Amino acid sequence: MAILKIIKEGSQDLRKKSRPVEKINRRIITLLDDMRETLKDAEGIGLAAPQVGVLRRVVVIETEDGELLELINPEIIYREGEQEEIEGCLSSPGKYAQTIRPAVVKVSYLNRNGETVEKEGTELLARAFCHETDHLDGVLCFDKAVRILTREELDELREKENNEKNGQEKKTNS
Ligand code: CO
Repeated sequence: MAILKIIKEGSQDLRKKSRPVEKINRRIITLLDDMRETLKDAEGIGLAAPQVGVLRRVVVIETEDGELLELINPEIIYREGEQEEIEGCLSSPGKYAQTIRPAVVKVSYLNRNGETVEKEGTELLARAFCHETDHLDGVLCFDKAVRILTREELDELREKENNEKNGQEKKTNS
């Protein structure tokens, strides 16, 4: 296994459409292994193959309970509702996008054994399914952002949210 170099925003590869995997061969298995290791090393939530310079429809995502999903040829087959949140991208350190994504997303994909898997996600996982499948079509979260934030602006916003929450708690307690 190897830690791969993550391509940064501005590279043309991030703007290209990735090709489907036709055969899950040794090369694809190695790519999955390397992408898992790269994601762990970068402490990210998800990584798409074009981010490591491979224009193939392959994604890895770590769920909140620590499960590592490997998605080959993922397709979003169901979406419902709406959520607005802030997301980052390993290809754009220090830059954050406030986006509106579906609240529930179901994907269909092949695992490394070539079996078809369907998986439903809400909250962070729903956003990750959208974010990573977008990468396969050359789309970045910033393209869809209602607002783009710097690290400082994000910190300020989180602080404000916390203060508001504390304020509300105080009110309900009195
Ligand atoms: Co990304």
